[in-house]
Amino acid sequence: MDILPAKRRAALAALDHLPEQAVLGLGSGSTASIFIDGVAEVLRAGKRFTCVATSEQSRRQALDLDIPLLEDSGPWNIDLCVDGADEVSEDLDLIKGGGGCHLREKIVNANSRYNIIIVDETKLSPRLGRRSPVPVEVVVFGHASTAHELRKYGRVTLREFEGKPWLTDGGNVIYDVNVGAIESPAQLDSDLHGIPGVVETGLFVARTDMLIVGSTSGVRRVERAHSVKPI
Ligand code: A5P
Repeated sequence: MDILPAKRRAALAALDHLPEQAVLGLGSGSTASIFIDGVAEVLRAGKRFTCVATSEQSRRQALDLDIPLLEDSGPWNIDLCVDGADEVSEDLDLIKGGGGCHLREKIVNANSRYNIIIVDETKLSPRLGRRSPVPVEVVVFGHASTAHELRKYGRVTLREFEGKPWLTDGGNVIYDVNVGAIESPAQLDSDLHGIPGVVETGLFVARTDMLIVGSTSGVRRVERAHSVKPI
């Protein structure tokens, strides 16, 4: 199945939620990239946005499209962040980090008043962990020892590129941990954070305000109860 049209539907549907002016968080990955192209078009049409990029890849795309960006250091006052995901549960919890950007993505998500997640329907899962491993960003120093601790949770794979550990935008390495179906994503996130050397996990628990799912036939939106809508 060609999932690109479904990703495209989800990304373009998110554009409908942009106010006249806002500070936007720009996610990472192929679906977020379609959204970023759309943001540039909306800017040209007269809306006013300043943005925060969640990866060097998204930053380059934004700069190429003349999208104004805020300093990496913050502090930011982000109205709305739009980002993709690798797996989404019925509770709207997520596994992210397939592209290795989940550290910056989580920082921007946590600093945003409203978070929209855009996915194609293949990302939906009855229980997190069935579809994707959990990416865990780990500092380089002692990473093989940190991996030893991670192995208590499942099979671990060091992400590599051309035979060497692949480094994130933060200069860290990533271990993908195959934990299987996750009973409690919040507990697992907390447990993994207890391991010295772990910087961030790809588990995003209770961080989604609206999910937009693109399919072959259309889009559907699911809102988390008690979320406060963006301006
Ligand atoms: C980047 O590290 C990820 O969190 C992405 O948001 C995620 O992998 C989704 O990517 P696609 O939109 O390319 O499927």
